[in-house]
Amino acid sequence: MTQDNLDTEIEKAARLLRCGGVVAFPTETVYGLGASAFDPAAAARIFEIKGRPRFDPLIVHLPATDWLERVALEVPPKAALLAEKLWPGPLTLVLRKRDEVPDIVTAGLPTVGVRLPDHDIARRLIEAAGVPVCAPSANPFGYVSPTTAAHVRLQLGDKIDAILDGGPCRVGIESTIVSFEGVSPTLLRHGGVPIETIEAVLGCAIAVARPEDPVAAPGMLKRHYSPSVQVVLFDGEIPASQGPGTGLLLISGRQVPGGFTAVEILSRSGSLSEAARNLFAALRRLDEAGLRVMFVERAPESGLGVAINDRLRRAASR
Ligand code: TXA
Ligand code: MG
Repeated sequence: MTQDNLDTEIEKAARLLRCGGVVAFPTETVYGLGASAFDPAAAARIFEIKGRPRFDPLIVHLPATDWLERVALEVPPKAALLAEKLWPGPLTLVLRKRDEVPDIVTAGLPTVGVRLPDHDIARRLIEAAGVPVCAPSANPFGYVSPTTAAHVRLQLGDKIDAILDGGPCRVGIESTIVSFEGVSPTLLRHGGVPIETIEAVLGCAIAVARPEDPVAAPGMLKRHYSPSVQVVLFDGEIPASQGPGTGLLLISGRQVPGGFTAVEILSRSGSLSEAARNLFAALRRLDEAGLRVMFVERAPESGLGVAINDRLRRAASR
């Protein structure tokens, strides 16, 4: 796409957002399905299009930190510090919301999740629309998140008003969510900013919401990111193939025994950021390979590996 074309596409998409439209757009994490965060009818369309339960709140996206005051009542000092050091980037802050943010966006919660995406197209789109944009990942509810415009087109293309194509997403897994609802910050979802980075900025350890805690992040369901094929996780040695229709997904490159119908290696060198970037597209390819079962290697449980393993556990859950 030429620069002129891109400018026109962004302008058109921004106009759609101002008029109640629903537009898919790239961020550094995954593609989002956006609507004006101040338009309850448009937000309702997002829930319908995704088949998403109304109890699962949407993240509100801003183009600049000074827009925070349009959606958040107050920004505690530690939240301000995280925003200063880690925005724009894959970090969502849960803060007390202003009345202007409709209940449908926050699923009736007194808080709102906000983030400032590190993606030029996303920021220019929101800026041009002139309103904060609420957006979940642009996939049918419960399925693998989209990291290319083609993923969005394939599953939701006929249901939405426009798709902005920004190429493949650089981070590849969703934002880390930190809540400031309680007295001290709590991590609700592992994501593109490792917890180690957050703790280094804050200078202290932070609590992590337990997966079985249903109110913590209403959307954190046990089964999610789910391919239709059975997913079996493993550590260490590669399991033997179960015959035709067996797939294999490895975090890093190594010798692969014979007998697998399809094999994906997320990062030959074992880089966890490269593995995260390739994860969802690889899960989709394996899902489309006509398999009966896929064996999926767990990542090392540190840095981005924690967020990768969180997605894998949910993908494997039935
Ligand atoms: O990277 C991302 O965060 C992507 C891109 C598009 O920005 N968005 C994303 O949205 O992953 P979604 O809807 O797939 O996941 C949002 C998660 C859900 O688990 C939801 O429950 C949680 O954020 N969430 C949103 N607002 C919240 C709030 N006020 N309190 C607690 N959890 C909240
Ligand atoms: Mg999602």
